[in-house]
Amino acid sequence: MRFITAVDRERLEKKLAMMIAAQVTRKPDSVLGLATGSSPMNVYKRLVELYRQGYVDFSEASSVNLDEYTGLHPSDPQSYSSYMNQHLFQHINIQLERTHIPSSDSACMEAECARYEALIQRLGGIDMQLLGIGRNGHIGFNEPSATFPVATHVVHLDESTIRSNAQYFESAEAMPRQAITVGIGTIMQARKVVLMAFGEQKADILQQAFFGQVTPEVPASILQFHPDVTIVADQAAMQTI
Ligand code: GLP
Repeated sequence: MRFITAVDRERLEKKLAMMIAAQVTRKPDSVLGLATGSSPMNVYKRLVELYRQGYVDFSEASSVNLDEYTGLHPSDPQSYSSYMNQHLFQHINIQLERTHIPSSDSACMEAECARYEALIQRLGGIDMQLLGIGRNGHIGFNEPSATFPVATHVVHLDESTIRSNAQYFESAEAMPRQAITVGIGTIMQARKVVLMAFGEQKADILQQAFFGQVTPEVPASILQFHPDVTIVADQAAMQTI
């Protein structure tokens, strides 16, 4: 487990963008596991800048996103599909047919989970998985539970997740209660994992996840067993470590 830290979040966002660009430069047909939420927004902005400056070429790369809310059409402005188009895909030369996000408005969610999991395996697994962390320790939308869910599945969102993410919807009621997420097993199979955490509101969970017991009650704690994890966190998030 490696930690990269700085007082200044902006420097870390640049660093994260460079790590992704370096991965794609080293292996042009990389499969990138991508995250949403507020943490990666400026990372994607920096990555777009690197692309515009000619430092990185995504023409052979593929991407698989971690998760998607259920019941939202991909064109819904709150969907993670819209998020990815807005913040990254429409600004770089990745081929859109090589970008993948679970389809959460599909009629049979179980079939969609199986399709998405098979797709990741068919792509040869994830080369670099970018992760944020929920305040309850969730990664993707793998919420605290009694066991670590292995593969892509449907989840009921925690009350704390609904409270945190409701800010992106018109009201808490408008926010979906379910999502599709890749599993903990899918994430653990990624060859490289990069987790980002910014701000003091992530300090307690960072301490629990990486210096506490490995338990499905803190889903990110499983990463203590991953052979190649880098945690990129600002000083505010690192204050209890
Ligand atoms: C969201 C996403 C996660 C994300 C996490 C943290 O619910 N499903 O993939 O990592 O919560 O979000 P943020 O970066 O906004 O703190």
